[in-house]
Amino acid sequence: MGLFNKGSPLKSSTLSARCLLAIATACLAQAIAAAPCNGTPCNETPCNETEPGCEATSAARQRFQRPATIPHPANNPYSEARAELGRQLFFDPRLSRDNDISCATCHQPALGWEDGRATALGTDSARHRRHTPTIHNLAWAPALLWDGRTPTLESQVWFPLTAHDEMAQDVRALAEELAAVPAYAEAFAALFPGRGISLITVSAAIATFERTVVTGETAFDRWVAGDDSALDDTAKRGFALFVGKARCDSCHSGWNFSDGQFHDIGLPAGEDVGRFMFTRQESDRFAFKTPGLRNITLRAPYMHDGSIATLRQVLEHYNQGFQQRPSLSSHMQPLHLDTSEINDLLHFLEALDSDDDIVVPQLPPRAPAP
Ligand code: HEC
Ligand code: HEC
Repeated sequence: MGLFNKGSPLKSSTLSARCLLAIATACLAQAIAAAPCNGTPCNETPCNETEPGCEATSAARQRFQRPATIPHPANNPYSEARAELGRQLFFDPRLSRDNDISCATCHQPALGWEDGRATALGTDSARHRRHTPTIHNLAWAPALLWDGRTPTLESQVWFPLTAHDEMAQDVRALAEELAAVPAYAEAFAALFPGRGISLITVSAAIATFERTVVTGETAFDRWVAGDDSALDDTAKRGFALFVGKARCDSCHSGWNFSDGQFHDIGLPAGEDVGRFMFTRQESDRFAFKTPGLRNITLRAPYMHDGSIATLRQVLEHYNQGFQQRPSLSSHMQPLHLDTSEINDLLHFLEALDSDDDIVVPQLPPRAPAP
């Protein structure tokens, strides 16, 4: 994991080491027994070739390995104190103009860091046009927001803070308000010496916290790491479909099940033209970012406009329900899945749920009036 070696350790790093050991042991065992791998590399479990997608399954499994560490950028390096300050700010309603909503009002940990609404509800009950996406596993995201119009977590914070349909805050007023909280004044002075409290330092702390929001180990991860009993046969069949006949991994690829790219998946067209709005390329019309699929059962309703209520309906959309138009992704093809295949896929998606700790911080009080 040379790429991530400047990052902070993930809780699961010890398990990754164990997983490497398990793979090495499996390799050795296979070499000794000269198990018939049928041309697949020796670190993959041999499977029943009559199963749909078997060959693809054993090779694909390796493409979903969890990374060992979180990447943090050099210009906003990780420290525990910075992440902790970011956590407090994320949960603090004083960040909004009316001191009534925090980032966590819309990005709620118990709802997979979403809000359970079709489209978000900002300060003064302002209706946002889009569905709140999750903020987990964003340390690996190449671009942010449904249309990718912002490149970094640091630069993203400005949008919700100031947008009239989110927190509607005046950035200068915010700096003064936070400076009146002694614990914040001290924390910013210690963590950002000479830089004070500003949009830049507030954003840096929040972004560091966000990078630490990583979904925990799931049954699927244990299976990828070599524990064959971690998934039952239904979920294994679901995975074979995911990387085989249903071709979900043409877009939902890698350990977080997102290619970080933008696609038109043929949802009924609304006013929102997605990425086209700022690239003005016809191929980007109605294109939105591929969401990751971890903890997906907590994150209903689905899609950028919250237009699909259940996971089963999402699968029905892919199976048969999408609109043909010039911008439709070439990966979108009729799948001809039957009900039992849809059930297998659903069961597989459920195996991507993790039981994550929710740590809600205590917020520091304002200085008492003199
Ligand atoms: C009113 C509800 C609401 C509040 C409050 C809110 N967000 Fe969001 N958040 C959204 C919506 C809706 C989007 C999608 C907007 C878009 O794509 O245009 C979003 C998108 C994001 C994304 C991009 C996720 C991705 O996958 O690209 C991040 C990161 C984020 N918000 C962080 C924050 C932070 C940090 C705060 C607090 C400073 C915050 N949000 C406050 C509703 C909210
Ligand atoms: C062409 C690329 C592509 C393919 C193929 C694809 N998806 Fe998606 N998926 C996306 C994009 C892009 C979105 C978001 C679309 C939007 O909101 O407009 C999405 C959304 C989803 C969502 C909702 C996530 C959320 O946070 O709301 C689920 C669940 C999902 N896909 C599962 C699947 C499954 C299962 C398959 C295979 C049957 C599949 N996808 C195939 C690109 C793809």
